[in-house]
Amino acid sequence: MRRLEQAIGGISFRSPLVIGAGPLSDRPDLIERAAACGAGAVSIKQTAWSEPRPGVRKMYAQKGECFFNPSDRRLKPEAAARLIYQVRQVTDIPLLVNILGSGGDAETWVQLGEQMEQAGADGLELNFACPNPPAQKDAAGQNLRYGAALSQEPDLAGAIIRAITEKVSIPVWVKFSGDGTDTPALCRAAAAAGAAGVTAFCSPRGAFPIDIEQGGRPKLADLSVCSFGGINGPAIRPASNRVVAEAAQAVPGLPVMGGGGISRVEHVVETIMYGASLTFLFTQVMLEGFEVLTKLNQQLEAFLDCHGYENVEEMRGLALRYLVPNSELDYRIGRPARIDPRKCRGCGTCGKIAFCRAIQMEGKTAQVQPRLCESCGLCASLCPFDAISFDDDPEGGD
Ligand SMILES: Cc1cc2nc3c(=O)[nH]c(=O)nc-3n(C[C@H](O)[C@H](O)[C@H](O)COP(=O)(O)O)c2cc1C
Ligand code: SF4
Ligand code: SF4
Repeated sequence: MRRLEQAIGGISFRSPLVIGAGPLSDRPDLIERAAACGAGAVSIKQTAWSEPRPGVRKMYAQKGECFFNPSDRRLKPEAAARLIYQVRQVTDIPLLVNILGSGGDAETWVQLGEQMEQAGADGLELNFACPNPPAQKDAAGQNLRYGAALSQEPDLAGAIIRAITEKVSIPVWVKFSGDGTDTPALCRAAAAAGAAGVTAFCSPRGAFPIDIEQGGRPKLADLSVCSFGGINGPAIRPASNRVVAEAAQAVPGLPVMGGGGISRVEHVVETIMYGASLTFLFTQVMLEGFEVLTKLNQQLEAFLDCHGYENVEEMRGLALRYLVPNSELDYRIGRPARIDPRKCRGCGTCGKIAFCRAIQMEGKTAQVQPRLCESCGLCASLCPFDAISFDDDPEGGD
């Protein structure tokens, strides 16, 4: 596992796979299991300065699609301190504590951060990400800026980060929501305020899954009403890559912990190639068990071997060199699609593309009329047998 190690901000992560804050990190037995299965670190469940009402844990999974949660229990500071103490008896896995102060009141964030440092946390992860804020008002009756709302205010976020980094000596990560956030501005503010890194992308808000046979009732157990809530899992993968890449490009020296919808080793590699040094997982581990970490670590090592990379760092950011602003795309129409008759199995998938006039099925193979092809690329991405390309014919045919 040495090749998977990442040393960042004084913490040695023995693997780039980190358990994202949530219900997998609020009990000692869970964290012990994460450590035994090869997690590089654990982000302990959100620890809140104040709990205006008891949290309730509600979750709904559509496997392969999304993991929806409108609400969860939070930890009180004393419970988080006890948890750190208990975990320390059994494992030395690095522990970040995901903390949530009271709105934009920096002092509450500082006090919470100091408490967690004294309790033995290896690092803090400031929660500017929670999509499920309780409806709280400040003294003037204004809604408190809470969780994800702080991602939309880089100046305020920067002031909170600065207040904490001046007071604690452990590394401070900033977990932010990519939902409507100016990622570059937030990352610049985080770097200027002394953050050790940023964590992205957390749970954009979605509407709850409903039972259409029951007149649109929420599909969440025991709930007759439901609010909007965080979406996690596969549904957020492409958006997550976008936010990770934005963060990596915004401040190249600022480490990124990237995730959102990671379920396979390819996703781990993608996230690293988009610029992340570490990755975080929640949904996949929740649904498949901690053993998935062991498998992913093994597969990641095998990927490094197979592609000749010495370590994770060598892959980091490789995809960024291909990323240009939309205005700089190459607008020429390229070569027409070419179907390799030796690979085509006549499955008909490409022939069904509704807008395309270029592909016809002829007997058991598909044929392209080059003059009608716009070279859009869709058929090649859909062909299950990799039979479509846009290269010159290697054998010189037409
Ligand atoms: C039930 C639940 C509770 C969560 N609690 C927290 C939390 O306390 N703090 C936090 O920053 N993120 C929290 N998250 C977000 C996860 O850490 C992670 O960012 C998100 O699930 C996306 O990753 P995934 O697609 O691998 O699940 C929670 C997610 C879920 C589903
Ligand atoms: S999708 Fe691929 S295999 Fe199927 S008909 Fe088209 S070219 Fe042939
Ligand atoms: S590249 Fe686009 S236009 Fe050309 S054959 Fe394929 S789907 Fe049709």
